[in-house]
Amino acid sequence: MAALGHLSTFGRVTHAVVRGLPESLCQHALRRHKGDEVDFARAEREHQLYVGVLKNKLGLQVVELPADESLPDCVFVEDVAVVCEETALLTRPGAVSRRKEVDMMKGTLENLQLNIVEMTDENATLDGGDVLFTGREFFVGLSKRTNQRGAEILADTFKDYAVSTVPVSDTLHLKSFCSMAGPNLIAIGSSEPAQKALKIMQQMSDHRYDKLTVPDDVAANCVYLNIPNKGHVLLHRAPEEYPESAKVFEKLKDHMLIPVTNTELEKVDGLLTCSSILINKKVDL
Ligand code: GLY
Repeated sequence: MAALGHLSTFGRVTHAVVRGLPESLCQHALRRHKGDEVDFARAEREHQLYVGVLKNKLGLQVVELPADESLPDCVFVEDVAVVCEETALLTRPGAVSRRKEVDMMKGTLENLQLNIVEMTDENATLDGGDVLFTGREFFVGLSKRTNQRGAEILADTFKDYAVSTVPVSDTLHLKSFCSMAGPNLIAIGSSEPAQKALKIMQQMSDHRYDKLTVPDDVAANCVYLNIPNKGHVLLHRAPEEYPESAKVFEKLKDHMLIPVTNTELEKVDGLLTCSSILINKKVDL
């Protein structure tokens, strides 16, 4: 049974965890398609702006973890922990090369006084990029990175919420083409796989969500926050990158809109939600 009492605080965030970019990202980060090389200086600038928005513009307490050259994908912290209310599930990432990323996250989330659950089952895999939390329920993408056992452990961890699985075969993660853009609002890409996944989520749910359809799948990955004195805040991909999708976001009149560029990390399959873990601490630490 969903803990609906938390709905009014959906998106409320006090802390964020981010991690620096190792130079090894350029050559060794996992990527689905070979393509343009990552411009490291530009990637760093874009990441600093992203962190600056969370810290300076939105006033979050941001824990910045150092990069580790032996972990080329370590900037993508979202994949290694799923945090909901006061509980953090440390995942067992689907890519073996990413498993050690969890170690530093464990100590960090312990310091934030969260209840830690570790995914130790060797048959389970789960990447946070496959986890969409709507405030009412979880949808978990079953992808190359996340399996049924991983989804079961997530369901055991967050027992207050329903968990439904969605097959994901054409992209890296479920959130490669969707995310929450508001308390009841799912941002979704226009591609056939994205629309098919949305239909499955709608069929699985007792609840009717509003949807915001954007032309570009990757632009449907945005970061929604609900910040005291600011209200609905949405980090979305910049008009210079995805002009048609940006026009759709610009129609959201109740949101404070913050365009964010992410050209470099996208080359290695990193989208906006990938680079932070957002946490709502109810008591001061
Ligand atoms: N480069 C992000 C990932 O493949 O996990």
